[in-house]
Amino acid sequence: MEVINGIVALQNALYASRKAGKRIGLVPTMGALHEGHASLIRQSAKDCDVTVVSVFLNPTQFNDQNDLARYPKTLEADCALAESCGADIVFAPSVEEIYPTPDTRVFAFPPVTTVMEGAYRPGHFNGVCQVVSRLFYIVKPHCAYFGEKDWQQVAVIKRLVGFINSEVEIIECPTVRESDGLAKSSRNTLLTPEERLLAPKIYEALQASVAQSQTKTVGEVHDEVVAQLNAIDGLRVEYFDIVDGATLLPVTRWDEAAEVVGCITVYCGATPIRLIDHITYRKEGKA
Ligand code: PAF
Repeated sequence: MEVINGIVALQNALYASRKAGKRIGLVPTMGALHEGHASLIRQSAKDCDVTVVSVFLNPTQFNDQNDLARYPKTLEADCALAESCGADIVFAPSVEEIYPTPDTRVFAFPPVTTVMEGAYRPGHFNGVCQVVSRLFYIVKPHCAYFGEKDWQQVAVIKRLVGFINSEVEIIECPTVRESDGLAKSSRNTLLTPEERLLAPKIYEALQASVAQSQTKTVGEVHDEVVAQLNAIDGLRVEYFDIVDGATLLPVTRWDEAAEVVGCITVYCGATPIRLIDHITYRKEGKA
């Protein structure tokens, strides 16, 4: 596996494979790789001839500079994990390489960019679209792999692909969880041992709410999840929205959309660490 920092070097490294008609898969990451990323890399290595893992802590998607400063940076371990999962190239550019001049492009696909994370992290999805569009342009992958954990991000990226007329196929991969249910996230390493014990309560509440959805209304389930989590010392719900999984617009009835998903963001602990998760209540065609 090669570690490449420059765009020209990356494009040269991919040239022969592209010319030979090989399929190129891209797994965009911000580093601090964990089992969730590993599953994306393995999937790409299975589907494609060449897998590129980008490791780039994208400053333009952070609206909170403390969050950016705190973000774990573990390039050496990232390269080892990527290699063990079948990656061929780790692309780890500098900020100047990706943004030689400030990126002033504006991407807005309301409502998917304005609801939930879009409302609470202004500018976040604009930054995600800036970097992902640049990565697509640089790597020109056939497929790009994203985790369903960031449900809204996947919806935004699908809109981006249409908007920039990219032919890249977006492959969504299921959320990977710890044995206690906590969704794997680079931010989990920032939790203290006490906070780490609280964090799984989020998924516990979401799972319990699936059973409640058999007998309760959308509004009742919403209120119950929020009340249950807010009652735990050390957890604070920022938002919990029950939405149409495709449009991300709120639903008021369980049968209002083919796929109904609950998306939640919870602050955990004193720092606090912002954790996101989701649960599917209804998916047409699923037994
Ligand atoms: O999901 C992430 O880690 C980031 O938002 C992404 C897609 C790599 C863009 O920086």
